[in-house]
Amino acid sequence: MPITTCVFDAYGTLFDVAAAARQAAAEPGRKALAACWPKLANDWRLKQLQYSWLRAVADAHTDLWEVTQNGLDFALEANGLSHDHELRERLLALYWQLATFPEVPAMLAALKSQGLNTAILSNGSPDMLMGAVGSAGIGDLLDDVLSVEDVGVFKPHGSVYDLVGKRFHCRADQVLFASSNCWDACAAAGQGFFSVWVNRAGEPMDRLPWQPNLVLSDLSGIPSIAKAS
Ligand code: LAC
Repeated sequence: MPITTCVFDAYGTLFDVAAAARQAAAEPGRKALAACWPKLANDWRLKQLQYSWLRAVADAHTDLWEVTQNGLDFALEANGLSHDHELRERLLALYWQLATFPEVPAMLAALKSQGLNTAILSNGSPDMLMGAVGSAGIGDLLDDVLSVEDVGVFKPHGSVYDLVGKRFHCRADQVLFASSNCWDACAAAGQGFFSVWVNRAGEPMDRLPWQPNLVLSDLSGIPSIAKAS
């Protein structure tokens, strides 16, 4: 069945989540952050994801903005920076204007020129996602931005992936789903999507009951894969 709809995870896939800490670390007066920003960014991301999964399992949903702040507070303390309240505010502000990875605008434009539907499907809250999409200037290249807030539980709960078929009136096998989060790409494969794991860092495959259909090192090949389907 040809692909009609290309759907993307947001954070880490279209938007570079490490950019907030990297950018803040390059600002004047941030010596302590400059010494540890890659670890802080990693701790922040890992805790944000862990808290999202724990909240899903425990049926204790809150939106990703709260989870993002909780993850940052853990990461700041773990790196000896919890006293720096101005840094906390700066990092949170930067999270609303994360850069896209360089190939993203041209890749989305190519999909639109092929007549395909394009969308984000993310754990992010609608306001966070609209902030990032607007700041990156990619809103015109997306038909929709789907948020887990419509179902009140985080990925990889199956009800999140069901949002795509409901919005675009398509079957799962007409959807190409791309994520840089291996667990997300695995879960999407389990839901019947043609799933692509964008493995920028050359990480090992997650050991889960499902596997992505394809592994790429960036998103630039997506339009030709969709065209060949
Ligand atoms: C998202 C996270 C999982 O955008 O990256 O849904």
